Amino acid sequence: MDKFIIEGGGRLAGEVEISGSKNAALPIMAAMILTSGKNKIRGVPQVRDVTTMLYLLKDLGGCTEEFNDGCIVFDSAGINNYEAPYDLVSKMRASCLVLGPLLARLGKAKVSLPGGCAIGARPLDLHIRGLEEMGAKIRLEQGYIYGEVKRLLGIRYYFDTVSVTGTANLMMAATLADGETVLENVAKEPEVVFLANVLNQCGAKIKGHGTDLLTIRGVQSLKPINCDILPDRIETGTYMIASAITSGDVKIINCIPQQVEALTMKLRQAGLVVEENETSLRVVGDGQLNGVNIKTQPHPGFATDLQAQFMALMALAQGQSIIIETVFENRFMHAAELKRMGADVTIQGQTAVVNGVKELSGAPLMATDLRASASLVLAALAAKGKSVISRIYHIDRGYSCIEKKLCSLGAKIYREK
Ligand code: EPZ
Repeated sequence: MDKFIIEGGGRLAGEVEISGSKNAALPIMAAMILTSGKNKIRGVPQVRDVTTMLYLLKDLGGCTEEFNDGCIVFDSAGINNYEAPYDLVSKMRASCLVLGPLLARLGKAKVSLPGGCAIGARPLDLHIRGLEEMGAKIRLEQGYIYGEVKRLLGIRYYFDTVSVTGTANLMMAATLADGETVLENVAKEPEVVFLANVLNQCGAKIKGHGTDLLTIRGVQSLKPINCDILPDRIETGTYMIASAITSGDVKIINCIPQQVEALTMKLRQAGLVVEENETSLRVVGDGQLNGVNIKTQPHPGFATDLQAQFMALMALAQGQSIIIETVFENRFMHAAELKRMGADVTIQGQTAVVNGVKELSGAPLMATDLRASASLVLAALAAKGKSVISRIYHIDRGYSCIEKKLCSLGAKIYREK
C-alpha cells in the first residue's frame, strides 16, 4: 500500500489548477444508463472512484471507447445487465446511483447494499422508499436490493433528510417515468444542479433545480450526454485551506468561487485574505489565525466534505473553535490522528472543541476516509518534522494528482510505493 512522506513546515506558494468534480462526474456517468448511444464527458478527474464507476458501467454492458486525458467516450447502447455486484459497490458507495437509472431503463435492478461506512451508517432508505412509491417492487435479500417495475410512475415525494445521491437517483429515475414527479426538500448542491442541467440538455424536462422543490416531467427517451464536468469545489476548498494552514500565497485557478462562499467567509473571519475573481481565488496568510466556529450543513451551508480539513486549520488557530457536524454521525475520525500530532481536540457527540496550539509535530498517521486523509495531509504540511501517512488509497479515490499539485506549490511530499 502506498504511503505519503511529508516534510512539514514550508510555505505553499504559486498557482494550482482544479480538476473536474468527482461528485459531479459520478452521477453524470450513472446517467449514461438512461441514454442509448455515444456519450462524451470531458474534464473527468483522474481518481479511483471514476475508474470504479467505469468498471461498473462496462459490467452492465456498456462499452468504453475512449478514456484518457479526462475524456470519456462511452457507448451505452448495449446496457442490458442489471446487476451491480458487491465487489464494486463495496469499493464505492456512489455505485448506488445506478439503481434509479437501471429501473428506469431496464425495469430491473440488482444492486448490492453498500454496508456501513467510516463516516456513518449512510442508509439508502430514502432512495428505496422513493422508488417503491414510483411503483417499483423492491426486496432486500442476501445483501442485495432487487427492484422490478414495468414503468416507473410520477409521484409527489418528500425527503425526510436532504440527500444528495438520493435526490440524484430519484431525479434520474423520474426523467423516464410516466407522468410528473415532484420531489420536495431536495439537495441543492451544485453537483445536483449540474446533473439536472445536463439531463435537460439531453431532452429531460426538469424544473426547480437549485431550489427545495424539483418538478420532473417524464419523457420517452434521452439523447446521449455531451458535457464538461464542473470544477471540484471540495478540491478547491482543500487547496484554500492548504494555503491558509501554511501561511501561504496560493492562487487557485479553474474554480467557481461562489460554490465555496461559506468557506471563504470563515477563512476571512479567521484572519486570511481571500481574493475572488470570476474563475479563480487567491488565499494569503500571514501567520495570524483566529479560532472560528463552523456547523456543517447541506449546501449552501458549510460543506461536511471540508470539515476535516478545516479542523486541521483550527488546530493551529489562536483561541477556541467549535465544530459541529450535522450531516454524518461519525465524521471526526481525523481528530484522533490530529491529536497524535499535538492538536487539542475534544469530541462530544457531534461537536468538536478545538483549542488552538502553537505547533503540530510530524507523526506516523493513518488515513481513515477520503476527507480525513486530506485533513492529515494538510496538518502534516504545516507540522514540524516528518509525517508518514499510510492507507492513502483513500485520498486517491477523490483527489487528482494531489502530490504533484502540492509539489508544484513547494510542498515536500513524496509517495512511497
Ligand atoms: C454525497 O453523499 C457525497 N457523495 C458525499 O461526499 C457528501 O459528503 C454528502 O453527499 C453530503 O454532502 C457523492 O456525491 C458521491 P447524503 P451521499 O445522502 O449522497 C442520510 C466525499 O467525501 N441519509 O446527502 O451519500 C445520510 O446518512 C463524499 O466526496 C439517510 O438517512 O450523502 C446522511 O446523514 C463522502 N437515508 C445524510 O442523509 C438515505 O436514504 C446526508 O447524506 C440517504 C441519506
